[in-house]
Amino acid sequence: MKTVVSGIRSTGNLHLGNYYGALKNFIRMQEQNRCFFFIADYHSLTTHPDPAILHPNVKRVLTEYLACGLNPEKSAIFIQSDVPEVIELYLMLNMHAYLGELTKTTSFKDKARKQPENVNAGLLTYPTLMAADILIHNADEVPVGKDQEQHLEMTRNFAKRFNNFYKVDYFKEPIAYSDGTKMIKIPGLDGSGKMGKSEGNCIYLADDPKTIEKKVKKALTDQGPTVQNSEKPECIQNLFTLMDVVSKPETIAFFEEQWNNCSIRYGDLKKQLAADIIEATNPIRERIAELDAHPEFLRKAVARGKEEAQESARKTIREVREIMGFKSF
Ligand code: TRP
Repeated sequence: MKTVVSGIRSTGNLHLGNYYGALKNFIRMQEQNRCFFFIADYHSLTTHPDPAILHPNVKRVLTEYLACGLNPEKSAIFIQSDVPEVIELYLMLNMHAYLGELTKTTSFKDKARKQPENVNAGLLTYPTLMAADILIHNADEVPVGKDQEQHLEMTRNFAKRFNNFYKVDYFKEPIAYSDGTKMIKIPGLDGSGKMGKSEGNCIYLADDPKTIEKKVKKALTDQGPTVQNSEKPECIQNLFTLMDVVSKPETIAFFEEQWNNCSIRYGDLKKQLAADIIEATNPIRERIAELDAHPEFLRKAVARGKEEAQESARKTIREVREIMGFKSF
């Protein structure tokens, strides 16, 4: 069985893009692998979050992941800061991480440009903390989006370097997780290619039905087709792409035909799409409400996750200390 590790950003509510993209992948993943999923709250410190919102953010993300089907009986679901052993490995890896490679990292350069007033050492060493997250459980695979590929490559470099320096064959070189299925990319409602928080074009899982209706109603459309069987412009294709994930095949076929013979009414399509999104996300909203009413479920889930992650992390730290020459008196 393979070990898979994935960190989850601790900022805010999940949207349809998160759900049909990464999350569906996680849910499948936990059936065949030993999974460690954690909320990366240490990582969030790079932006100095208000202490009053740090915990509520973590709780939100945890609640919604559980509501979507991440299962604490199948995976170790934990909070990164509940297993501080990772910091020790982070420190050790940092001793073999070089300024040149850290400053060259794309994500570092981006952040340094965007927040020149806060280019801190945590930001610089973000990739070593991520490597520590992964190597502490000796992961075989890590599900990564495009923006995290370089971090995974650095993780492999850190692992290799450690093995070479200490002449051991200790850390595995983790690769990108793939189960052969293509990750679904959910478009935005503003005609853009991607639903994203910073793009402000999201439907959130916790949005109530009225809000969803309103958002879909406002989605960008065009004047309508004038030539039969024409290609769809991006904004219209986006609505069909959303239907592909939430609507019945008959519904999609119906609107395809209307598009093709130029009789389509976007108002009708949007009404149907909103209804189908609401239906698809109803069970999740119900479970979010249920979890909000039963904090003991969350508490138990993370306690269990912490225990499993800590056992695995402690073993690694013990072995790494020995390899590096630490001895107790
Ligand atoms: N950096 C990842 C992100 O921004 C989150 C993350 C932290 C992570 N540690 C990780 C992902 C370890 C995979 C493995 O999405």
